[in-house]
Amino acid sequence: MGVTAVIGLQWGDEGKGKVVDAFCQGADVAVRCQGGANAGHTVVVDGKRFILHLVPSGILTENVICLVGNGVVVDLEVLRGEIEEIGRAGLKTSGRLVLSTKAHVVLPIHKRVEAIQEQKRGDRKIGTTKRGIGPCYSDKCARVGIRVGDILEPSTLAEKIGSLCGTYRDLHNDQPVSSIDENLEHCLRHSDMVKEIAGDAGSLLRRSVSDGKEIILEGSQGFLLDVDHGTYPYVTSSSTGIHGLANGAGLAPTEIGRIVGVAKAYTTRVGAGPLPTLMEEPFQTEVRERGKEYGATTGRPRRCGWLDLSAIRYACALNGVTSLAVTKLDTLSGLEELKLCEGYDYGGNFVNAFAGDLHILKDCTPRYVAHPTWGEIGNLTDSKDLPVAASRYVERMLEAAACRLELISVGPSREQLIRVGR
Ligand code: GDP
Ligand code: IMO
Ligand code: MG
Repeated sequence: MGVTAVIGLQWGDEGKGKVVDAFCQGADVAVRCQGGANAGHTVVVDGKRFILHLVPSGILTENVICLVGNGVVVDLEVLRGEIEEIGRAGLKTSGRLVLSTKAHVVLPIHKRVEAIQEQKRGDRKIGTTKRGIGPCYSDKCARVGIRVGDILEPSTLAEKIGSLCGTYRDLHNDQPVSSIDENLEHCLRHSDMVKEIAGDAGSLLRRSVSDGKEIILEGSQGFLLDVDHGTYPYVTSSSTGIHGLANGAGLAPTEIGRIVGVAKAYTTRVGAGPLPTLMEEPFQTEVRERGKEYGATTGRPRRCGWLDLSAIRYACALNGVTSLAVTKLDTLSGLEELKLCEGYDYGGNFVNAFAGDLHILKDCTPRYVAHPTWGEIGNLTDSKDLPVAASRYVERMLEAAACRLELISVGPSREQLIRVGR
């Protein structure tokens, strides 16, 4: 019993949804802690594919209570759609979902402002998911944002939205942004849903911890997209590591007993920004098609790169990762050649830690080592049956992560999982 955090170690889409789903079997509470509808977490249950953007993946497991924490930025329209979709699939959300009153609301104005900002960036576009994430977090830090709790107080909501819209009117006087009415109407349209699910998610969570419940914190994005430690400015606007999870859930970091880092067996990236280990053709196309590497939120093709051990080393060290979950090992089956990046040549030296600073990273050249390939593994359930080359590959990942192995995922379905033990 205790609190487990699940975090992505690369540029997102590592397969966190599937790993969280695996941990939720037997759990009591699942929590989304940061990010917003920029996340797309896929879980395949009995052949049905669910893509969750805001609701914790724990909703797919009966009796797990799901919390959307204070650190999340919430698109109410997306949330409503997701609740309806889950209901259509025959799963109950009523009484199982609590939205923190402290979470911030993504408004129509945030999406509009983001579009303007991206357009103004010209060829330095971030390639965001267009979900209004950056502007919403900016307003939170500027202390002018709208929180879920504000929607419960309609008498002052109009004034708050008015002052928020006013700041943008002054900033973007050359562009039409979004009216007070539009943003107010958006909030009021969803106020029935908010009334039903809003609550003190943090207190509920802390009580669950005291009661000895099994709790899963579901990270979103990946550590290389962290606003401080990622490839800034080509990052998201939240802290995607363990610190962001604790804070965004409303929990003392010392309560987190197990920190599971999720690493894909290769690297992918969607959106702009460096991917130093980008695969050459035909490998990139082959891996993208085999691994179905298209964004779960935007459908954009993901760039594919060789596994970067220095990135795993960096992310595990900064997050105190205690165990590793390796995903998509099956996608590399049957590749004609395989190589992994052990570190970088930089300024005449070999460095084995990833540089989370673009002015250094731009002068880093990946140093690769060839690795033997292996055949199909999608139906394996015991690590002892893995081909030697695949086992050795996972060992290389563990050496970099400097922790024990917990899971190996060998396919998208719930069952395609090798549990290595706790
Ligand atoms: P997340 O954002 O980290 O939850 O990951 P996404 O859901 O965006 O992307 C992961 C994709 O890989 C999804 O389509 C999953 O269904 C799929 N997936 C997860 N684990 C595995 C695996 O071990 N093998 C294969 N082939 N696909 C997987
Ligand atoms: P999950 O939780 C992959 C990327 C975007 C863009 C950058 C900034 O599914 O792993 P944003 O909309 O957040 O301002 O975009 O971050 N990005 C993700 N990439 N997976 C995600 O989430 C992502 N969330 C944001 O593509 O490069
Ligand atoms: Mg995703």
